[in-house]
Amino acid sequence: MMHDALAVSTAVDAPTPARTRMLADVRDGLFRRGQKELPPTYFYDARGSRLFDEITRLEEYYPTRAERALLETHADAIAELTSPRAFAELGAGTAEKSRVLLRAMLARGPVQYLPIDVDGHTLDETARALRRALPALEVAPIVADMRDDVSADGARHPLLYGFLGSTIGNFDTPAAVALLQSIRTSLRPGDRLLVGMDLVKDTRVLEAAYNDGKGVTREFNLNVLRVLNRELGADFPLEAFEHRAIYDEALARIEMHLDVRRDCTVRVPGIGCLELVAGESIRTEISCKYDRASATALLAAGGFQLTEWFVSAAPEFALAVAEPVE
Ligand SMILES: C[S@@+](CC[C@H](N)C(=O)[O-])C[C@H]1O[C@@H](n2cnc3c(N)ncnc32)[C@H](O)[C@@H]1O
Repeated sequence: MMHDALAVSTAVDAPTPARTRMLADVRDGLFRRGQKELPPTYFYDARGSRLFDEITRLEEYYPTRAERALLETHADAIAELTSPRAFAELGAGTAEKSRVLLRAMLARGPVQYLPIDVDGHTLDETARALRRALPALEVAPIVADMRDDVSADGARHPLLYGFLGSTIGNFDTPAAVALLQSIRTSLRPGDRLLVGMDLVKDTRVLEAAYNDGKGVTREFNLNVLRVLNRELGADFPLEAFEHRAIYDEALARIEMHLDVRRDCTVRVPGIGCLELVAGESIRTEISCKYDRASATALLAAGGFQLTEWFVSAAPEFALAVAEPVE
């Protein structure tokens, strides 16, 4: 299946499925009582993906470094344990870290790589770069919205199905369970799951990772409004919003918000006028943090049994290997 999920339209009024989905998400998330919310999916146009890439290199943003170090240490063991003929990766992005694993797999024989991502532009660049860097690798990119479809159509088996970067943490527990269950149904006996999960730790370390000194995360957060302005013809005034990220200890999750600094009326063609009041906020992302017990329980609810648990040096990050429960 190839479609460009975030390239919503060339004309503001064109009723593409992606535009219809975006309008529905905006209607459900912003035109409601209580906490307003947008799915993090809409951060990731070409600019948002570039900003995220910049975030991964920030001093404060430890998850990417920690996960890369884990992959460098354990890639051979993971390749040995799972012996895959294919590696499908949900939310693959630039697949920078994935190369470590792909090299370890290629050392054992031919491997097919199926990066799955909503951002078609980044995926094109990822596929091109990988074909250059690893000519023996068969690359079969899939542009898809993981909220609708997580199937790795055309994958060889045994398949290692990966979900790195703690992207699973962007889903609350019911949504993460539903996602794992749909991944589970696309797997066959002998296939395995690899999930990168950020772990509970000192609040200061967690909050610093989402409030960097250079303001890149702030720009990334505001990018969702740029995307809505461009794709829907909305008129969110960016200067009326401020980035805020806080750790909620009770829910063990970072919440990223855009705080509304002054009353404003935003026109969203196709829906209507949105009245925003100073002091309220739009929640734009959650990032759940785990420990071994909560990760085991989440995987079990999704139809998987945890088989290996690799943890990095502090600030701690984990790689979970799991097998589908028969
Ligand atoms: C936090 S980044 C992680 C990227 C990479 N896996 C890493 O570990 O650095 C999330 C990735 O998921 C993709 N993404 C976000 N929402 C998505 C959705 N609904 N469906 C598919 N991909 C999505 C983004 O384009 C982005 O590449």
